[in-house]
Amino acid sequence: MKFSYKEITKIYEEFNKDIDSISSDDLKKKYLSKKGNLKDLLKKIGEQEKEDRAKFGKEVNILKNFIEEKVEILSSSLKPKFSKEQIDVTAPFEKNTPEDKKPKLLNKLGSTHPLTQELEKILEIFQKMGFQIEESRQIDDDYNMFQSLNFPIGHPARDNWDTFWTEENLVLPAHTSTMQNRILRKYEIPIRVVIPGRCFRNEATDASHEHTFYQIEGVYVDENISMSHMFGTIKAYLEAFFETELDIKSQPSYFPFTEPDAEFVISCPFCKKEGCSICKYTGWIEIMGCGMIHPHVLTEGGIDPKKYSGFAWGFGLDRLVMIKNGIDDIRKLHSGELEFLDQF
Ligand code: PHE
Repeated sequence: MKFSYKEITKIYEEFNKDIDSISSDDLKKKYLSKKGNLKDLLKKIGEQEKEDRAKFGKEVNILKNFIEEKVEILSSSLKPKFSKEQIDVTAPFEKNTPEDKKPKLLNKLGSTHPLTQELEKILEIFQKMGFQIEESRQIDDDYNMFQSLNFPIGHPARDNWDTFWTEENLVLPAHTSTMQNRILRKYEIPIRVVIPGRCFRNEATDASHEHTFYQIEGVYVDENISMSHMFGTIKAYLEAFFETELDIKSQPSYFPFTEPDAEFVISCPFCKKEGCSICKYTGWIEIMGCGMIHPHVLTEGGIDPKKYSGFAWGFGLDRLVMIKNGIDDIRKLHSGELEFLDQF
């Protein structure tokens, strides 16, 4: 028999066409089984002229290995479980998702995440009140996280705010207060700045604790600023946010970077102090930590505490969005569940 590549090439081309249209089982049957195409070709090795036999055999084996490898990949776990076809990673999500696995909501247009929706509303309220906006950092250093906030090295309160450190001695911020020193240095008095940003805690998660969440910090500095300015400002903001009048009170608290410090408490915007599930039947909701900026923090920020005073606060955006929307589990906010997100 005259040596020719023709038959080998023919099977190669046929296989390349079949690979897109038939299942790995059928490919196995057609090419690799006892009655398969390749068996015929293997038989033909012996029919070759003596001097061509080795060459022909080698080519047939290359093709055989190629087909075995492809079929193996297709039928192995690498193969997408739901499709005979390979995934095109550049295709839109719905292209790679079989009908029965598609979330019911997939045909809908996307929407803004509830955290973003509320953040935009909050920033608009503060802008109307004359605040500027500055974003916080997602990685910071010991100076901004601790030293500038009146936590000297070795201060026991550092433990409460300790999070995750990199080998270069950088830290994931536990709160947006890490921005206070930068704000004090950067802005001219009067300073009115709000700072939204992502924060991290070394935290076991549950329905009300997440390791990653958002805070919004406020920093206000001018001459003759007192706690009544602080209470008035925060109250005005929260009434605009909840779109209702609120009663307020404060509870003592402790932060190394404020003096005095307070926990800001509002009357429940939903039950008007009657008691409901949102306020846990107490009529009141603790909403944020705040206080007068500590003189050490002002000095460290280049501001003379004898001449100026100011206040700061920090509240959790996630918690506020939960309260406003009656969300019972903070983890839902970062879950990416479409059924959850579709409600907003
Ligand atoms: N950073 C504090 C917290 O995360 C809140 C706070 C901010 C308190 C500013 C006082 C002043 O709880």
